[in-house]
Amino acid sequence: MKFFVDTAEIKDIKELHETGLLDGVTTNPSLIAKSGRDFKEVIKEICGIIPGPVSAEVASLEYDGMVAEGETLAKIADNVVIKLPLTLNGLKATKYFSGKNIKTNVTLCFAANQALLAAKVGATYISPFIGRLDDINIEGVELIENIRQIYDNYNFETEILAASIRSPNHVTQVALAGADVATIPPAVIRKLADHPLTNAGIEGFLKDWKATGQSIL
Ligand code: E4P
Repeated sequence: MKFFVDTAEIKDIKELHETGLLDGVTTNPSLIAKSGRDFKEVIKEICGIIPGPVSAEVASLEYDGMVAEGETLAKIADNVVIKLPLTLNGLKATKYFSGKNIKTNVTLCFAANQALLAAKVGATYISPFIGRLDDINIEGVELIENIRQIYDNYNFETEILAASIRSPNHVTQVALAGADVATIPPAVIRKLADHPLTNAGIEGFLKDWKATGQSIL
């Protein structure tokens, strides 16, 4: 499973990129607003750090506006992925960009039928929002399982990008369900490496190592 980081914070992106764990980045208008930076500038900077796909979301709800905004965003860098909402206009714009070999990420997916439509118009990625479904007492991971089965039934190439990930458990669940990618907030990525038994083990080994009085170098 590929790991994207779900943020527009340069410091986090640089730090996590250095670990070798990152395959890409997703942003959304809320994350851009949180960064307090100019949208196009921050996308350009992220694309210069991460060679993998970087999702940048259109703001228009009209087809013509989505196409114009997406074309502008696509010119920022070769690795920009145009993020479009799962509406009929968004799907129509996805079809337009897929015809031009411009990568797309269809976002705000909450139902398997929506994911089926995104695949039919040639979306590069579909983003089912796990955490927001869990928030309203619907099992988010079941959506990933259902989309996986539908895509496998018809050999759709659209990649399942599990989004709205809130915890390390979500990461395990979507990996088990066969998501191709998970986009994960920086804090959750950091938590994935953490285990109390690992920490306790390191402490014990270090104590015993010091007692040997040896040095490796
Ligand atoms: C996905 O691309 C979105 O940016 C993101 O995962 C939304 O997560 P949230 O529900 O925590 O806002």
